[in-house]
Amino acid sequence: MPISDPALGVCYYPEHWPQEMWADDARRMVENGLSYVRIAEFIWSRIEPKRGDFQFDWLDTAVETLGAAGLKIVMCTPTATPPKWLVDEMPDMLAVDANGNPRGFGSRRHYDFSHEGYRRECARITEVVAKRYGENPHVVAWQTDNEYGCHDTTLSYSNTARTAFQNWLAQKYQSPEALNRAWGNIFWSMEIGSFEEVELPVLTVTEPNPTHVMDFRRFASQQVVEFNRVQTKILRRLSPGRDIIHNFMGRYLEFDHFDVSADLDIASWDSYPLGFLEQFGQDNAWKNWYMRAGDPDFQAFHHDLYRSCGTRNGQGRDRGRWWVMEQQPGPVNWAPYNPDPHPGMVRLWSHEAFAHGAEVVSYFRWRQAPFAQEQFHAGLNRPDNSADRGLAEAKSVAGELGQLPQVEIGQAPAPVALVVDYPSFWATETQPQGQGHHAYQIVFEFYSMLRRLGQSIDIVRPGDDLKGYRLVVVPQLISVDENALEAFKAFDGHLLFGPRCGSRDENHHIPQGLAPDGLRQLIDIRVERVESLRPGVSHPVGHEGRFHAWAEHVITGDAVEVKLQTKQGHPAWMVQDKASYLAGWPDERLRKYVLEKELTLAGCPWVETGDDLRIRDHGPLRTIVNYGPRAHDASHLIAKGDTVLIGSSDMDVAGVTILHRAKT
Ligand code: GAL
Repeated sequence: MPISDPALGVCYYPEHWPQEMWADDARRMVENGLSYVRIAEFIWSRIEPKRGDFQFDWLDTAVETLGAAGLKIVMCTPTATPPKWLVDEMPDMLAVDANGNPRGFGSRRHYDFSHEGYRRECARITEVVAKRYGENPHVVAWQTDNEYGCHDTTLSYSNTARTAFQNWLAQKYQSPEALNRAWGNIFWSMEIGSFEEVELPVLTVTEPNPTHVMDFRRFASQQVVEFNRVQTKILRRLSPGRDIIHNFMGRYLEFDHFDVSADLDIASWDSYPLGFLEQFGQDNAWKNWYMRAGDPDFQAFHHDLYRSCGTRNGQGRDRGRWWVMEQQPGPVNWAPYNPDPHPGMVRLWSHEAFAHGAEVVSYFRWRQAPFAQEQFHAGLNRPDNSADRGLAEAKSVAGELGQLPQVEIGQAPAPVALVVDYPSFWATETQPQGQGHHAYQIVFEFYSMLRRLGQSIDIVRPGDDLKGYRLVVVPQLISVDENALEAFKAFDGHLLFGPRCGSRDENHHIPQGLAPDGLRQLIDIRVERVESLRPGVSHPVGHEGRFHAWAEHVITGDAVEVKLQTKQGHPAWMVQDKASYLAGWPDERLRKYVLEKELTLAGCPWVETGDDLRIRDHGPLRTIVNYGPRAHDASHLIAKGDTVLIGSSDMDVAGVTILHRAKT
């Protein structure tokens, strides 16, 4: 059984500071409890200022200095920032935006994933760096590139992308006729006679054909997979025994992270709770309440998502290896507003990640940069090298980790699983059918309510083995393929499906026999009509809440029991044996009601944590966190016989309480 051995790290940029500072920086990292250091993701112009003119002396010294201090190094490939000379040699490597403008040099991520020439350059530089450091004893892991897709760079509308897309389609469909059929191109005389005639789904007069868009999204996602694979293949060959990692982002949906993760050993993500709250928080009141803490469920959702990604390399779901590669240490620079976290929040975020099974939490960055784009971004140290608050909090986390028992993890999966599917995100972006409808939103709302009911959750991909779970929630799976259906059928716990599940087939057509397509084998219903609802309009559902945003008219077979109906008399929540279906978008009250009932039915004990408190059970440990801007009593989350290891039932702002549970 794997034992968790959590550790801390930091992102460091030796190239930003005089060499005389490096040894002291390294010494202070170790002194403050940091054991990993990630370097070199943006250094291409310094290691190869001109083609073939390699300058590694400085980096050799940096690696030696950090390693000699006892730090374990995560080395990066520098491919997120191709140097100017390379872009000038190959100007068509730039991605092109939806208006047809090249995304030029002068910041970062200025490349098109599908550009073969740039892929070759990436292979070349990866090979050079991996040869130099692949077997260096201080280098324990690699990060490929940096934040694939950041700054909206997954989708590119370049000529390069068009040719690659045409080839991809030719592979997939074999003949133009097959493509025409699959896309339904007869509809507006959109038929093509050869694959060279296919355009990118952009700058059309009105909306492009949704199947065309869905294929383009699948293609674009696959480009990221292949781009990453170019590097992982070289790293595996030249750096045996080292883990390969990529740092994903928060609420980034444009490529399938499960697919990319299949080539990694460890999935990681970059956690900036306050920046994400500003970008994605539900409304202004919510943002004000949590402005110094972040959304209480956003981090947890991504921890669970990337833990699931970390299982893809054959590790089994009890051992999804994942890290937080970049942890916000203070105010950031890139959100509309950038508040200061509550004192104690950096500590809380770190403990929370470990409670979800992180192996490493690594802070971004060691020292705030006084120059260039991120001057307002805090580090663990200020630009004058004085220690900032984040450093003290990191040090206290390191001390506390030392006091906690090392726990055996993964004896059993969480009782509840939530199905996440990237193509469903693309499908609802392609055809929202109601302004702002997005599968991510409903997935996150279900996740968040399950957490408010005290659940620890595993995220799974459609088709994953569901054995061992008691309740599986499928908030929105637009197309249900054979694998997914088989996994649902083989599962013997309870299943809850949300609206729009099975509403499209593999070609993004309405399925023969209507929604929910194959799920009818589990629950005998047929969706006859759907409507999206204007803001402020909703349908009462029994006395338990309302459908807003989306409602369906469903007819049910004899075996189906209607548990709740709308005021107009349409079935709203219905059950047949182990499967149930919700025929609309539930508001908060209805979501809570249905999930409480489902949890009870599935034999999962639940407890209301309260708005600001959350729990996460991890082996025998329970971590309780307070995201609210006020103190809370957490006695209801502590059972008789539990041993409090850190904190207490009186939880202050940013409070963390860790228990050893008497009964798990
Ligand atoms: C991340 C990125 C880092 C840095 C950081 C600032 O998205 O990977 O390089 O820019 O944001 O918060």
